[in-house]
Amino acid sequence: MSKEIFETLPKIPTHVAIIMDGNGRWALEKGLSRLAGHKAGTENLREVIEASAEFGIKYLTIYAFSTENWNRPKEEIQGLMRIFRTMLDRELNNLHKNGVQLRHIGRLDGIDKKLQKKVHESIELTKNNQTLVLNVAFNYGGRDEILQAVKHIVANGVNVENLDDAQFEKYLYTAESPDPDLVIRTSGEFRCSNFLIWQSAYAEWYFTPTYWPDFNKKGLHQALVAYNERDRRYGKVKQVKGK
Ligand code: FPP
Repeated sequence: MSKEIFETLPKIPTHVAIIMDGNGRWALEKGLSRLAGHKAGTENLREVIEASAEFGIKYLTIYAFSTENWNRPKEEIQGLMRIFRTMLDRELNNLHKNGVQLRHIGRLDGIDKKLQKKVHESIELTKNNQTLVLNVAFNYGGRDEILQAVKHIVANGVNVENLDDAQFEKYLYTAESPDPDLVIRTSGEFRCSNFLIWQSAYAEWYFTPTYWPDFNKKGLHQALVAYNERDRRYGKVKQVKGK
């Protein structure tokens, strides 16, 4: 990790969510395979996770595989599954040592049974860690999440007369996490791509042209600087002194 000194910022978002985009283009521009791009996208992940904890972020959510990613070529899907498994094998001890609590959001069904088991074991091992909650969105889709929530609500016979935001959120995959304050998307795309569509209703968005494998601690700090310049009003008007 770089030895650069980073200015301390007055406002640190509790929850940062990241759409890690641009692995394919990063690879293409270097004449490499798309999978090489995804692999490179795991190398910087450790730095970004460690930097998040260092900056005082308490929840980090990363979009690793969407429900729509099943439409990619079979080799790429298998490669992404392998990368997830390798990541867990390689990084789990280090994450645990650093107080990272690993969680999964999305559907585990449809994923290889061995990988499912590894995910469950990782969650179990780290469940009491308090430094940083790392939500890995894998086989995740925002619409799918909302549909699942509605199905559970109906199946549980919930009285919808009194259904409000707070109650509804208990049925989302993110029930145990606060809403994201800041969503970062790398690679110069300006879309939310079905990511945390309920939860990001009042999030601040930050877009950077940097491809994900090149995104690092410095890039995260720049996003936090931009966040500090934002005026979050949640639909209200700005309070003016004396008025
Ligand atoms: C989007 O880039 C990225 C993905 C679909 C995969 C993200 C996965 C990683 C960064 C690896 C880490 C994985 C885990 C499980 C923690 P893209 O392929 O859409 O890039 P492109 O838009 O340039 O083609």
